[in-house]
Amino acid sequence: MKNPSHFISLADLGAQDILDLLDSAADLKEKRMRRKVTNLLSNKSLAMIFEKPSTRTRVSFEVSMTDLGGHALYLNWNDLQLDRGESIKDTARVLSSYCHGIMARTHKHEHIQALSECSTVPVINALSNIEHPCQLLADLMTIREFKGRFNGLKFSWVGDGNNVCNSAILACSIMGMDMSIACPAGYGPDKSILKKGENMGFTPEITNDMREAVADADIIYTDTWISMGDEFEAGKRIKALTPYQVNDEIVGLAKDNVIILHCLPAHRGQEITDGVIDGPHSAVFEQAENRLHAQKALLLKLLG
Ligand code: CP
Ligand code: NVA
Repeated sequence: MKNPSHFISLADLGAQDILDLLDSAADLKEKRMRRKVTNLLSNKSLAMIFEKPSTRTRVSFEVSMTDLGGHALYLNWNDLQLDRGESIKDTARVLSSYCHGIMARTHKHEHIQALSECSTVPVINALSNIEHPCQLLADLMTIREFKGRFNGLKFSWVGDGNNVCNSAILACSIMGMDMSIACPAGYGPDKSILKKGENMGFTPEITNDMREAVADADIIYTDTWISMGDEFEAGKRIKALTPYQVNDEIVGLAKDNVIILHCLPAHRGQEITDGVIDGPHSAVFEQAENRLHAQKALLLKLLG
């Protein structure tokens, strides 16, 4: 295939592309519940390169390919010749000649970009330091299931302005949600993402005041304070972010029907309490399940 479409950033999709994917994901979810087989990717293979650990992404992509009649290969970065210095570009060219798609989770966003530049098959970003677009597809699916719409909803991000927050900014921008981000100084979202949002006419509110950010929220989203790769400054991060815990008091400031999202893995007792993640507002485990359905739709679009 020449000029494949890649999924490196949520901004690779427009609002209508996302709505189409969510329709397809809902259809696939319903078919799976009825145990209807959808062998639409038979004889197709997906190479999955992981430079960082994963539970949800690895398993949901692998099961997606199996459910669709295809095959996924788990490739640990350290077991590939990449670890001994083979270039990303040569790796992309070779994997493209065996597989119909390449998915990668890397430390550096540029590594995924480099893969996409030399791959002749679609490349999917399965998390980098800058974005986690597959997560946001599942999150948008979950928001639509619970709220039935996007336009005008208030989406509050609390805590570290990390890779998931960056993709959430793009999601709010594309789907017409208002966004408030509460984070301590020095832990805000990536400037290049804010610029991308600005170019789309979108500016989130960014504040240090968590109570202001969650007032009347429809959605409260938080994530770990220590993303993969940030472990070396764990102590400093915990100190700065401890005032930003999502607990019952914070949830009480939002709308009565607020939903709580977290991409997982959660650090219970740090960014979120047991009471909130297991409480009546939590949509966290529906959100995790939706990784499977949303990614199936994505795989069908890119590899089908
Ligand atoms: N949310 C998410 O991407 O989880 P994993 O790190 O387990 O894949
Ligand atoms: N922000 C987290 C997300 C994990 C799915 C990280 O990058 O580790």
